[in-house]
Amino acid sequence: MLPRGGTVLQSVNQAELHAKLISLQGGVIFDEPLFLHTTLAIGGRATCFFLPTTIGILQEAISLCNEYEFAYMILGAGSNVIFPDKGYLGMVIGTSQLRGASIGDGWVHALAGEPLAELITRLDQANQQSLNFLAGIPGSLGGAIAMNAGIPERAIGQEVEQVAILNSATKIEVIPAKDCGFSYRTSLFVKNKLPILWAKMNLNGKVYDRIEILNRRRLSQPSSAYSAGCVFKNPPGLSAGRLIEQAGLKGFRVGMAKVSEKHANFIINCGGATSAQVLELIDIIRRKVYKSSHIQLEMELEVIGE
Ligand code: EPU
Repeated sequence: MLPRGGTVLQSVNQAELHAKLISLQGGVIFDEPLFLHTTLAIGGRATCFFLPTTIGILQEAISLCNEYEFAYMILGAGSNVIFPDKGYLGMVIGTSQLRGASIGDGWVHALAGEPLAELITRLDQANQQSLNFLAGIPGSLGGAIAMNAGIPERAIGQEVEQVAILNSATKIEVIPAKDCGFSYRTSLFVKNKLPILWAKMNLNGKVYDRIEILNRRRLSQPSSAYSAGCVFKNPPGLSAGRLIEQAGLKGFRVGMAKVSEKHANFIINCGGATSAQVLELIDIIRRKVYKSSHIQLEMELEVIGE
Protein backbone atom coordinates (compact mmCIF):
# COMPACT_ATOMS: atom_id res chain seq x y z
CA MET A 1 0.00 0.00 0.00
CA LEU A 2 1.27 3.47 -0.80
CA PRO A 3 1.90 5.91 1.96
CA ARG A 4 -0.45 8.86 2.28
CA GLY A 5 0.81 11.75 0.23
CA GLY A 6 0.59 9.70 -2.93
CA THR A 7 0.15 12.90 -4.91
CA VAL A 8 3.72 13.81 -3.97
CA LEU A 9 4.91 10.43 -5.05
CA GLN A 10 3.08 10.30 -8.37
CA SER A 11 5.97 11.66 -10.42
CA VAL A 12 8.45 9.06 -9.20
CA ASN A 13 8.77 5.34 -9.01
CA GLN A 14 6.54 4.99 -5.98
CA ALA A 15 7.22 1.35 -5.18
CA GLU A 16 10.96 1.88 -5.43
CA LEU A 17 10.92 4.92 -3.16
CA HIS A 18 8.61 3.17 -0.72
CA ALA A 19 11.01 0.21 -0.50
CA LYS A 20 14.02 2.47 -0.06
CA LEU A 21 12.30 4.47 2.67
CA ILE A 22 11.49 1.28 4.53
CA SER A 23 15.08 0.07 4.19
CA LEU A 24 16.43 3.15 5.99
CA GLN A 25 18.08 1.93 9.16
CA GLY A 26 15.80 2.65 12.11
CA GLY A 27 12.57 2.31 10.15
CA VAL A 28 10.19 4.84 8.66
CA ILE A 29 6.69 5.21 10.12
CA PHE A 30 3.99 6.05 7.56
CA ASP A 31 0.99 8.27 8.24
CA GLU A 32 2.30 9.45 11.59
CA PRO A 33 0.16 11.96 13.59
CA LEU A 34 2.24 15.09 14.10
CA PHE A 35 0.33 16.24 17.18
CA LEU A 36 2.32 13.56 19.01
CA HIS A 37 5.53 15.37 18.14
CA THR A 38 4.73 19.02 18.88
CA THR A 39 4.51 20.74 22.28
CA LEU A 40 1.30 22.50 21.18
CA ALA A 41 -0.10 19.02 20.42
CA ILE A 42 -1.67 19.93 17.08
CA GLY A 43 -1.09 18.92 13.47
CA GLY A 44 -2.33 16.30 11.02
CA ARG A 45 -0.36 13.35 9.72
CA ALA A 46 3.01 13.23 7.97
CA THR A 47 3.34 11.02 4.91
CA CYS A 48 6.26 9.50 6.75
CA PHE A 49 8.23 10.13 9.88
CA PHE A 50 11.81 9.11 10.49
CA LEU A 51 14.15 9.24 13.47
CA PRO A 52 17.79 8.77 12.34
CA THR A 53 20.17 7.53 15.02
CA THR A 54 23.37 8.77 13.37
CA ILE A 55 24.42 11.68 11.19
CA GLY A 56 25.25 9.18 8.42
CA ILE A 57 21.70 7.80 8.43
CA LEU A 58 20.29 11.35 8.40
CA GLN A 59 22.47 12.08 5.35
CA GLU A 60 21.17 8.93 3.67
CA ALA A 61 17.52 9.89 4.31
CA ILE A 62 18.00 13.40 2.93
CA SER A 63 19.92 12.12 -0.12
CA LEU A 64 17.02 9.77 -0.83
CA CYS A 65 14.47 12.59 -0.52
CA ASN A 66 16.56 14.74 -2.86
CA GLU A 67 17.00 11.92 -5.38
CA TYR A 68 13.23 11.29 -5.57
CA GLU A 69 12.25 14.96 -5.19
CA PHE A 70 10.35 14.02 -2.05
CA ALA A 71 9.72 16.91 0.35
CA TYR A 72 11.34 16.69 3.77
CA MET A 73 11.75 18.84 6.84
CA ILE A 74 13.72 18.59 10.07
CA LEU A 75 11.86 18.61 13.37
CA GLY A 76 13.60 19.15 16.70
CA ALA A 77 11.55 19.00 19.90
CA GLY A 78 8.51 20.40 18.05
CA SER A 79 8.36 23.37 20.41
CA ASN A 80 8.29 26.15 17.85
CA VAL A 81 6.18 24.90 14.96
CA ILE A 82 2.55 24.83 13.89
CA PHE A 83 1.64 22.05 11.48
CA PRO A 84 -1.58 22.38 9.48
CA ASP A 85 -4.51 20.04 10.18
CA LYS A 86 -3.97 18.48 6.75
CA GLY A 87 -0.51 17.39 7.87
CA TYR A 88 2.73 17.29 5.93
CA LEU A 89 3.16 15.74 2.49
CA GLY A 90 6.67 14.39 2.68
CA MET A 91 9.12 13.10 5.25
CA VAL A 92 9.41 14.67 8.70
CA ILE A 93 12.85 13.85 10.05
CA GLY A 94 13.01 14.09 13.84
CA THR A 95 16.35 14.65 15.56
CA SER A 96 15.41 13.25 18.96
CA GLN A 97 17.73 10.23 18.57
CA LEU A 98 20.75 12.34 17.57
CA ARG A 99 21.91 12.90 21.12
CA GLY A 100 25.09 13.22 23.08
CA ALA A 101 27.42 15.87 24.40
CA SER A 102 31.04 16.15 25.48
CA ILE A 103 32.30 18.81 27.81
CA GLY A 104 35.87 20.10 27.54
CA ASP A 105 37.91 22.90 29.05
CA GLY A 106 35.69 25.93 28.43
CA TRP A 107 33.60 24.35 25.67
CA VAL A 108 30.79 21.86 25.02
CA HIS A 109 30.14 19.91 21.84
CA ALA A 110 26.63 18.49 21.44
CA LEU A 111 24.48 16.84 18.79
CA ALA A 112 21.42 18.65 17.45
CA GLY A 113 18.83 16.40 19.11
CA GLU A 114 20.23 16.82 22.61
CA PRO A 115 17.38 18.20 24.76
CA LEU A 116 18.34 21.63 26.07
CA ALA A 117 17.09 20.75 29.56
CA GLU A 118 19.42 17.74 29.76
CA LEU A 119 22.38 19.62 28.35
CA ILE A 120 21.93 22.45 30.84
CA THR A 121 21.50 20.10 33.80
CA ARG A 122 24.66 18.19 32.85
CA LEU A 123 26.63 21.40 32.42
CA ASP A 124 25.32 22.75 35.72
CA GLN A 125 26.42 19.54 37.46
CA ALA A 126 29.86 20.01 35.89
CA ASN A 127 29.89 23.51 37.42
CA GLN A 128 29.41 25.18 34.03
CA GLN A 129 26.64 27.76 34.38
CA SER A 130 26.98 30.04 31.38
CA LEU A 131 24.17 28.37 29.39
CA ASN A 132 21.78 28.41 32.37
CA PHE A 133 19.91 31.35 30.86
CA LEU A 134 18.37 28.74 28.50
CA ALA A 135 16.86 26.74 31.39
CA GLY A 136 13.15 26.05 30.93
CA ILE A 137 13.15 26.44 27.14
CA PRO A 138 11.43 23.26 25.92
CA GLY A 139 13.56 22.58 22.87
CA SER A 140 16.39 20.59 21.37
CA LEU A 141 19.83 22.15 20.92
CA GLY A 142 19.38 22.25 17.13
CA GLY A 143 16.03 24.03 17.40
CA ALA A 144 17.42 26.51 19.92
CA ILE A 145 20.35 27.33 17.62
CA ALA A 146 18.15 27.65 14.54
CA MET A 147 15.82 30.03 16.45
CA ASN A 148 18.66 31.73 18.32
CA ALA A 149 16.65 31.09 21.48
CA GLY A 150 17.23 32.99 24.68
CA ILE A 151 16.11 35.64 27.07
CA PRO A 152 15.83 39.34 26.23
CA GLU A 153 19.42 40.11 27.22
CA ARG A 154 21.14 36.97 25.88
CA ALA A 155 20.74 34.44 23.06
CA ILE A 156 22.42 31.11 22.37
CA GLY A 157 24.09 32.48 19.22
CA GLN A 158 26.37 34.57 21.45
CA GLU A 159 27.82 31.36 22.92
CA VAL A 160 28.23 29.42 19.67
CA GLU A 161 31.69 28.78 18.21
CA GLN A 162 30.79 26.48 15.30
CA VAL A 163 27.72 24.78 13.86
CA ALA A 164 27.85 21.76 11.53
CA ILE A 165 25.14 21.50 8.92
CA LEU A 166 24.31 19.51 5.80
CA ASN A 167 24.72 21.71 2.75
CA SER A 168 22.69 21.54 -0.47
CA ALA A 169 24.94 18.72 -1.73
CA THR A 170 24.15 16.79 1.52
CA LYS A 171 27.77 17.21 2.63
CA ILE A 172 28.81 18.17 6.16
CA GLU A 173 29.94 21.77 6.44
CA VAL A 174 31.22 23.47 9.59
CA ILE A 175 30.15 27.12 9.86
CA PRO A 176 31.97 29.51 12.20
CA ALA A 177 29.74 31.61 14.50
CA LYS A 178 30.38 34.83 12.55
CA ASP A 179 28.78 33.28 9.43
CA CYS A 180 25.70 31.81 11.19
CA GLY A 181 23.60 34.94 10.61
CA PHE A 182 22.33 35.05 14.18
CA SER A 183 19.91 37.85 14.96
CA TYR A 184 16.84 38.15 17.18
CA ARG A 185 15.11 34.72 17.11
CA THR A 186 16.50 33.71 13.72
CA SER A 187 19.62 32.50 11.91
CA LEU A 188 21.00 31.44 8.55
CA PHE A 189 19.77 27.91 9.36
CA VAL A 190 16.10 28.96 9.47
CA LYS A 191 16.37 31.27 6.49
CA ASN A 192 18.07 28.63 4.30
CA LYS A 193 16.40 25.57 5.89
CA LEU A 194 19.75 23.92 6.66
CA PRO A 195 19.73 20.75 8.81
CA ILE A 196 21.85 21.32 11.92
CA LEU A 197 23.98 18.33 12.99
CA TRP A 198 25.97 19.53 15.99
CA ALA A 199 27.30 22.65 17.61
CA LYS A 200 30.31 23.63 19.66
CA MET A 201 29.72 26.34 22.23
CA ASN A 202 32.06 28.17 24.53
CA LEU A 203 31.35 28.13 28.25
CA ASN A 204 33.12 31.31 29.29
CA GLY A 205 30.09 33.61 29.20
CA LYS A 206 28.21 35.22 32.07
CA VAL A 207 27.09 32.79 34.79
CA TYR A 208 23.34 32.44 35.47
CA ASP A 209 21.54 30.72 38.32
CA ARG A 210 19.53 27.86 36.79
CA ILE A 211 16.97 27.69 39.61
CA GLU A 212 16.39 31.43 39.51
CA ILE A 213 15.83 31.36 35.72
CA LEU A 214 13.47 28.38 36.04
CA ASN A 215 11.52 30.08 38.83
CA ARG A 216 11.25 33.31 36.84
CA ARG A 217 9.79 31.34 33.93
CA ARG A 218 7.41 29.32 36.10
CA LEU A 219 6.07 32.52 37.63
CA SER A 220 5.50 34.36 34.34
CA GLN A 221 4.84 31.61 31.77
CA PRO A 222 2.31 28.75 31.46
CA SER A 223 5.08 26.11 31.52
CA SER A 224 2.93 23.03 32.17
CA ALA A 225 0.26 23.69 29.49
CA TYR A 226 0.37 22.54 25.84
CA SER A 227 1.91 25.58 24.12
CA ALA A 228 4.65 26.42 21.65
CA GLY A 229 6.31 29.16 23.71
CA CYS A 230 6.14 32.76 22.59
CA VAL A 231 4.03 33.12 19.46
CA PHE A 232 5.28 36.55 18.36
CA LYS A 233 8.65 38.27 18.43
CA ASN A 234 8.92 41.25 20.74
CA PRO A 235 8.81 44.42 18.60
CA PRO A 236 11.97 46.53 19.23
CA GLY A 237 11.82 47.95 22.76
CA LEU A 238 8.34 46.53 23.42
CA SER A 239 6.74 43.38 24.79
CA ALA A 240 4.39 41.40 22.56
CA GLY A 241 2.78 39.90 25.69
CA ARG A 242 2.00 43.33 27.12
CA LEU A 243 0.61 44.58 23.76
CA ILE A 244 -1.69 41.55 23.52
CA GLU A 245 -2.81 42.02 27.13
CA GLN A 246 -3.47 45.72 26.47
CA ALA A 247 -5.63 44.71 23.47
CA GLY A 248 -7.83 42.90 26.03
CA LEU A 249 -7.06 39.43 24.73
CA LYS A 250 -5.92 37.49 27.81
CA GLY A 251 -8.15 34.41 28.03
CA PHE A 252 -9.67 35.05 24.56
CA ARG A 253 -10.33 31.80 22.73
CA VAL A 254 -11.19 30.32 19.36
CA GLY A 255 -12.53 26.83 19.99
CA MET A 256 -10.03 25.08 22.22
CA ALA A 257 -7.18 27.49 21.42
CA LYS A 258 -6.76 30.19 24.06
CA VAL A 259 -4.57 33.20 24.81
CA SER A 260 -2.87 32.34 28.12
CA GLU A 261 -4.12 34.27 31.14
CA LYS A 262 -0.62 34.03 32.61
CA HIS A 263 1.39 35.35 29.64
CA ALA A 264 -0.50 36.76 26.66
CA ASN A 265 2.22 35.87 24.13
CA PHE A 266 1.46 32.16 24.67
CA ILE A 267 -1.38 30.26 23.00
CA ILE A 268 -2.62 27.26 24.96
CA ASN A 269 -4.19 24.14 23.53
CA CYS A 270 -6.94 23.49 26.10
CA GLY A 271 -7.51 20.00 24.66
CA GLY A 272 -8.20 19.03 21.07
CA ALA A 273 -7.55 22.45 19.51
CA THR A 274 -7.09 22.38 15.74
CA SER A 275 -4.42 24.10 13.77
CA ALA A 276 -7.14 26.15 12.03
CA GLN A 277 -8.32 27.44 15.43
CA VAL A 278 -4.78 28.41 16.46
CA LEU A 279 -4.19 30.19 13.14
CA GLU A 280 -7.51 32.03 13.40
CA LEU A 281 -6.61 33.11 16.94
CA ILE A 282 -3.22 34.35 15.70
CA ASP A 283 -4.95 36.34 12.99
CA ILE A 284 -7.37 37.92 15.50
CA ILE A 285 -4.50 38.81 17.87
CA ARG A 286 -2.58 40.51 15.06
CA ARG A 287 -5.61 42.50 13.91
CA LYS A 288 -6.65 43.58 17.43
CA VAL A 289 -3.10 44.55 18.45
CA TYR A 290 -2.76 46.55 15.23
CA LYS A 291 -6.05 48.27 15.97
CA SER A 292 -5.11 49.12 19.55
CA SER A 293 -1.43 50.01 19.11
CA HIS A 294 -0.70 50.28 15.35
CA ILE A 295 1.99 47.64 15.71
CA GLN A 296 2.26 44.72 13.30
CA LEU A 297 3.27 41.67 15.34
CA GLU A 298 5.76 39.37 13.61
CA MET A 299 5.58 35.60 14.10
CA GLU A 300 8.22 33.84 16.12
CA LEU A 301 6.62 30.42 15.55
CA GLU A 302 7.13 28.72 12.22
CA VAL A 303 3.89 27.91 10.41
CA ILE A 304 4.60 24.88 8.21
CA GLY A 305 3.16 24.99 4.72
CA GLU A 306 3.02 28.78 4.45
N1 EPU B 1 3.89 41.34 30.12
C1 EPU B 1 2.59 41.78 30.22
N2 EPU B 1 1.59 40.91 29.93
C2 EPU B 1 1.82 39.65 29.52
C3 EPU B 1 3.16 39.20 29.39
C4 EPU B 1 4.18 40.06 29.70
O1 EPU B 1 2.33 42.91 30.60
O2 EPU B 1 0.85 38.92 29.27
C5 EPU B 1 4.98 42.24 30.48
C6 EPU B 1 5.75 41.75 31.69
O3 EPU B 1 5.13 42.13 32.88
C7 EPU B 1 7.10 42.36 31.49
C8 EPU B 1 7.24 42.45 29.98
O4 EPU B 1 5.93 42.30 29.44
O5 EPU B 1 7.14 43.66 32.02
C9 EPU B 1 8.16 41.36 29.40
O6 EPU B 1 7.62 40.08 29.78
P1 EPU B 1 8.55 38.82 30.13
O7 EPU B 1 9.58 39.21 31.13
O8 EPU B 1 7.65 37.69 30.42
O9 EPU B 1 9.37 38.54 28.84
P2 EPU B 1 8.94 38.50 27.33
O10 EPU B 1 9.64 39.63 26.67
O11 EPU B 1 7.47 38.41 27.15
C10 EPU B 1 10.96 37.05 26.57
C11 EPU B 1 11.09 36.00 25.52
C12 EPU B 1 10.74 34.64 26.11
C13 EPU B 1 11.64 34.36 27.29
C14 EPU B 1 11.48 35.45 28.32
C15 EPU B 1 12.45 35.22 29.46
C16 EPU B 1 10.51 36.79 23.29
C17 EPU B 1 9.41 36.96 22.30
N3 EPU B 1 10.15 36.26 24.43
O12 EPU B 1 9.58 37.11 26.90
O13 EPU B 1 11.01 33.67 25.12
O14 EPU B 1 11.28 33.11 27.88
O15 EPU B 1 11.75 36.72 27.72
O16 EPU B 1 12.47 36.23 30.37
O17 EPU B 1 11.66 37.13 23.01
C18 EPU B 1 10.24 32.25 23.39
O18 EPU B 1 11.12 32.76 22.70
O19 EPU B 1 9.49 31.33 22.98
C19 EPU B 1 10.04 32.80 24.73
C20 EPU B 1 9.04 32.42 25.49
